[in-house]
Amino acid sequence: VAPVFILGVESSCDETAASVLRRDPDGSTHILSSIIASQDEYHAKFGGVVPEIAARAHMSIIDAIIDQAVTEAGVDYSDLSAVAATSGPGLIGGVITGLLAAKGLCLSLDIPLIAVNHLEGHALSPRLSGPCAFPYLLLLVSGGHTQLLSVKGLGDYERLGSTVDDAAGEAFDKTAKVMGLGFPGGPNVERVAAGGDPKSVKLPRPYWGQDHANFSFAGLKTAVARAWRSSDKSEQDAANVAASFQATVCEVLSERTGRAMDMFTKDIMSTNEVEPSDTPHRFVVAGGVAANKAIRGALEHLCEAKGFSLNAPPMVYCTDNAAMIALAGLEHFIQGNISDLSAKARPRWPL
Ligand code: KG4
Ligand code: ZN
Repeated sequence: VAPVFILGVESSCDETAASVLRRDPDGSTHILSSIIASQDEYHAKFGGVVPEIAARAHMSIIDAIIDQAVTEAGVDYSDLSAVAATSGPGLIGGVITGLLAAKGLCLSLDIPLIAVNHLEGHALSPRLSGPCAFPYLLLLVSGGHTQLLSVKGLGDYERLGSTVDDAAGEAFDKTAKVMGLGFPGGPNVERVAAGGDPKSVKLPRPYWGQDHANFSFAGLKTAVARAWRSSDKSEQDAANVAASFQATVCEVLSERTGRAMDMFTKDIMSTNEVEPSDTPHRFVVAGGVAANKAIRGALEHLCEAKGFSLNAPPMVYCTDNAAMIALAGLEHFIQGNISDLSAKARPRWPL
């Protein structure tokens, strides 16, 4: 049997990315290239991702990024077995750009297209950088998503909770914008928070103690903005507001994730396939917000308390990238699950 080469394409938010993976007959997967072009500089002055600017930027660079991924992988286009492209969820202009580029390649190379759900890419991403056996609980916290997924197997995902409004990273970005700290906001809020008192500003903790694992960050964002505007805006005020905001996000993420851990544990204990001795249960955190040291510390603490092992994949594979899209595509391809060339972009596509 020959190895399988898959090209992955990602363009659903503000990263244009392409990657080539090789699956060997022995089942091992190798990342031959993973190119990521960030659009941060285009969106910085707006304090957030502007969909129209994102779409144009994807369009201007996608072919070059794909070419770079193929060249860097040391393969020829004719070696490719299939092309996997994010088909949603995400910003429609970007998704269409990547999907059309992929379709064009599939047509000219006469190989199958695999339309991949971006969230499935994230769900499988910890398996890019090392072994990560099913089942595991995944917390995805980025600028676009805040979700808790039970990843039970390929194609077998259960959403235990998600945000009903803003994503956690969005709350960081909007807080930074109000406070004039620049984009992307997360790293700047974290830096400013270092000198502050996390207990100085009382902020709401939506859904705290409720018997589900959903999140809500819109009210928190508004409360932070109010606290900042009514302060004297001194350096110490900035530190206190940022520290209080960050601490509140930490507490909320931990408490909600703790709920999901209880749900996950109950669920896998109720299936006969899992022995109670098969613990500790696995917890994976992915997404840009997981770079935050306070949040990571809080999750480490939570894992200890709940008997979970913590897996935090390298940031390059758990923020938006095309290797995870190629991996999801590869798994579908091997199962014979290919898409029609008429596959549509699906800006809202639940996993
Ligand atoms: O995974 P990611 O690159 O994907 C997108 O959603 O595009 O995540 C980016 C998000 C941004 O909202 C950014 O502010 C946030 O992750 N982020 C952080 C930190 N670093 C990045 N949030 C909190 N603390 C950080 N250190
Ligand atoms: Zn993403």
